[in-house]
Amino acid sequence: MDVAALSSTAQSLVAPGKGILAADESTPTMAKRLAAIGLESTEELRRAYRELLFTTEGLSEHVSGVILFDETVRQTADDGTAFPRLLERRGIIPGIKVDRGTKPLAGCPGEVGTEGLDGLRERFEEYAGLGLRFAKWRAVIRIAAGAPSAAALATDAHQLARYAALAQEAGLVPIVEPEVLMDGTHDLATCATVTERVLREVYAQLALHGVALEATLLKPNMVLPGSESGADVADAVIARVTVDVLRRSVPAAVPGIVFLSGGQSDEAATARLDAINRIGGQPWELSFSFGRALQAPVLRAWAGDPENRAAAQAALGKRARLNGAARRGAYER
Ligand code: 13P
Repeated sequence: MDVAALSSTAQSLVAPGKGILAADESTPTMAKRLAAIGLESTEELRRAYRELLFTTEGLSEHVSGVILFDETVRQTADDGTAFPRLLERRGIIPGIKVDRGTKPLAGCPGEVGTEGLDGLRERFEEYAGLGLRFAKWRAVIRIAAGAPSAAALATDAHQLARYAALAQEAGLVPIVEPEVLMDGTHDLATCATVTERVLREVYAQLALHGVALEATLLKPNMVLPGSESGADVADAVIARVTVDVLRRSVPAAVPGIVFLSGGQSDEAATARLDAINRIGGQPWELSFSFGRALQAPVLRAWAGDPENRAAAQAALGKRARLNGAARRGAYER
């Protein structure tokens, strides 16, 4: 394993002022996003939408990398260029989601486990050959009565470590994503306790499996009160608690932390990333790997009509620029 090369890719993904566009919605998730704007999901529509995203003028100013779904990796732009190649040419690093989603976790009612480790070494070999340079695996942790269970957390951490070791073996930088969902009535302190527990367990397993932390990125949730808790917590408090949890659990060797948006509005996600960076003085870059918080306004502006292409690309350019500013704690609402 060439740790120096992988570590250099990881650092490029969190270069100052830049973050990651998560455009790795699976086919069923993309169908949901398209249904929300009244469209039926077809392979061609998904391709056209992804081409619109990737050909946005100036995207690489604030977007360092894009996470793709398997289908997109095999599709081409109108001029026949494969999407991973098109991104590289535009100065953007192409990555790939490799988990295969979640299923109910046997023995742990109400909890889920992530699928996709079987055959992953062979899939990584193919992805490396297709020019993909980083990967993502998402574990999903729900807060509820009795959850997360010790069994679910042990399973998630172990799988993330096995995935990360395989990614590095194949020459891809693993993004390690344990997402504590914001769904629920729990308070901010409960999310903080659970997130810290999850991260400690994840880093213990990464160490056990010999993963080189310099050549990884962490994609965590921000620490938030449950979305059905009715709590209204100031961004500065969310930022402080989030940074405190990360300082207790994420080794300084990790080059960057790229938050997921997790269902926050685009403006809330940007404002909180900004508040996090205003604290300053942390050992890691604090950036974004947003899906919905970058794409929601784009989908609304586009609505599937080619005539709206420029407006949709302008919406993406704007969110990318604002999140780029939030990377420096310089976002103005
Ligand atoms: P959201 O920012 O919409 O949560 O998506 C990021 C992602 O990749 C989730 O796995």
